[in-house]
Amino acid sequence: MTAPSFDRSIKIAPSILAADFADFGREIQAVEAHGADWIHVDVMDGHFVPNLTFGPAMCKAIRPHIKTVMDVHLMISPVDPYIEAFADAGADILTAHVEAGPHIHRTLQAIRGAGVKAGVALNPGTPTESVEYLLDMVDLICVMTVNPGFGGQKFIHSQIDKVKQLREMIGDRPIHIEIDGGIDPTTAPLMAAAGADALVVGSAVFKGGSVINPVPYGENIRAIRAAAEAAR
Ligand code: DX5
Ligand code: ZN
Repeated sequence: MTAPSFDRSIKIAPSILAADFADFGREIQAVEAHGADWIHVDVMDGHFVPNLTFGPAMCKAIRPHIKTVMDVHLMISPVDPYIEAFADAGADILTAHVEAGPHIHRTLQAIRGAGVKAGVALNPGTPTESVEYLLDMVDLICVMTVNPGFGGQKFIHSQIDKVKQLREMIGDRPIHIEIDGGIDPTTAPLMAAAGADALVVGSAVFKGGSVINPVPYGENIRAIRAAAEAAR
């Protein structure tokens, strides 16, 4: 397991939601070989979000293929009964939604207690104040720039201000600001300028490529990174 070390450089985190579900191992190897910094894993329960993906067993199965950072985004409710299983599966970062239940504080304690970096995610309609009293117990704040549940949705521009506010709120704390949804070379710079450092990208990384033709993955990652870095 690679423990994520803290820095504010731009990280590109391809979401395997946009990869070939029959070939996750090779898809992960391909995007890592072509410049991915983290691997973003979208867990959905058909209850908190209107879509279903996979659970801890699948995370455990793909873990050996991930040489970078396994960034697990839990779009599930409840969260607490599954933390141990996702920690055992080898997650480096476990992110729970502030909207997923009444006790996000306890959930974050449990994630750190399991020896995993803790992330908190905010839906587009959730204000920054919802994480104000959580800042000393998180390693990452994920700002959803689409409503969670599906890849390929349109970026919600109102979230730019949210990232700016969070960046100020965080100050010098070692907390990553991650953005998730609708990120491509045109939206990445807006968020990098606002203060985001971890960019989750599904469709815009995997488009045009495949495990047998992964060169476009590298071109896509480089284009997004270049656009983001130029905006800082
Ligand atoms: C949405 C997921 C995202 C999604 C992003 O619920 O959390 O990680 O895969 O996909 P794109 O980049 O296609 O919007
Ligand atoms: Zn996600």
